[in-house]
Amino acid sequence: MTLLVGPKDGFSEALAYRLDLKFIELGLRTFPDGELCPRVLVKDVGEVAGKDVVFVCRIRVGGRDPNEYLVNYLLSLMNLKFMGVRRVKAVMPYFIYSRQDDVFRPGEPLSAKFVASLIEGAGADEFYTVTAHLHRRRSIGECFEKAKAFNASGIKALASWVKGSYELKDPFILSPDAEAVTWAEEFSRIVEASEYDALIKERDLATGAIKTMEKAFRLRGRDLIIVDDIVSTGGTMINAVSIARKHEPRRIFCCFVHPILADGALEKIRSLKVDDIIATDTIPSEVSKVSVVELLAETLKKEGKLI
Ligand code: R5P
Repeated sequence: MTLLVGPKDGFSEALAYRLDLKFIELGLRTFPDGELCPRVLVKDVGEVAGKDVVFVCRIRVGGRDPNEYLVNYLLSLMNLKFMGVRRVKAVMPYFIYSRQDDVFRPGEPLSAKFVASLIEGAGADEFYTVTAHLHRRRSIGECFEKAKAFNASGIKALASWVKGSYELKDPFILSPDAEAVTWAEEFSRIVEASEYDALIKERDLATGAIKTMEKAFRLRGRDLIIVDDIVSTGGTMINAVSIARKHEPRRIFCCFVHPILADGALEKIRSLKVDDIIATDTIPSEVSKVSVVELLAETLKKEGKLI
């Protein structure tokens, strides 16, 4: 028998409902000094012992507490095994630390792999995420040694939503940097766009400052969709909108999977008066218009052999 454990945030319950699994709430108590005490809200551990569990927990609004979230996540995984759970299918809709998927400067950690090790070391037998930012790894499986890992496409969910919500005119799909061109290509296939392209962005590894190069496109009268996996400070997206706007597109849509939206990012993007800002609910936000619950449910059903 499989149960689903997660916070009562609408997302976990929806996934449990979609998978037809009993939902058990994960509570969270924070002590005055900041230490965390996540609790599986059961009367008796016998309710979970010997069973399989789908564990799902999203980072909180804004995604700005990855360290607290990680401790909560790891303590919960270890506790599920401590309570006698047989197998844990760990769902982390936004795979934190995945941007550090390489050692960019000597002495830095390979955080994506190290966080994966912590997750499997804490008891995850399988790992499920959405559009992991792993440009320098061939697949998410490279980060995990023992756990089977699955990376569902949030671009598919975003593009399908846009296709169903807007009548697009000769759409052009643009990625704000070269790494993201795979997302633009995937998006263009789903919305049946005839063209996609990428801007070139340079990032200063020490300061994080970015510079995006000008590029000419044939955009006049066309709908422009800018697609990325993550918006954090908004700098990458803002540069892309500013450059592309000079070529007079009919409408501009900003689409991204993970709305980290660090302080002020959403207001800055809104001030550009684009036609829509669309993200998924891998991280809860004001612009999380597209749910990945169905996508995760399909992936868990296909790969997770739920019993
Ligand atoms: C980087 O390669 C990612 O795909 C995003 O473009 C990046 O994380 C966005 O960051 P920011 O919003 O801070 O420019």
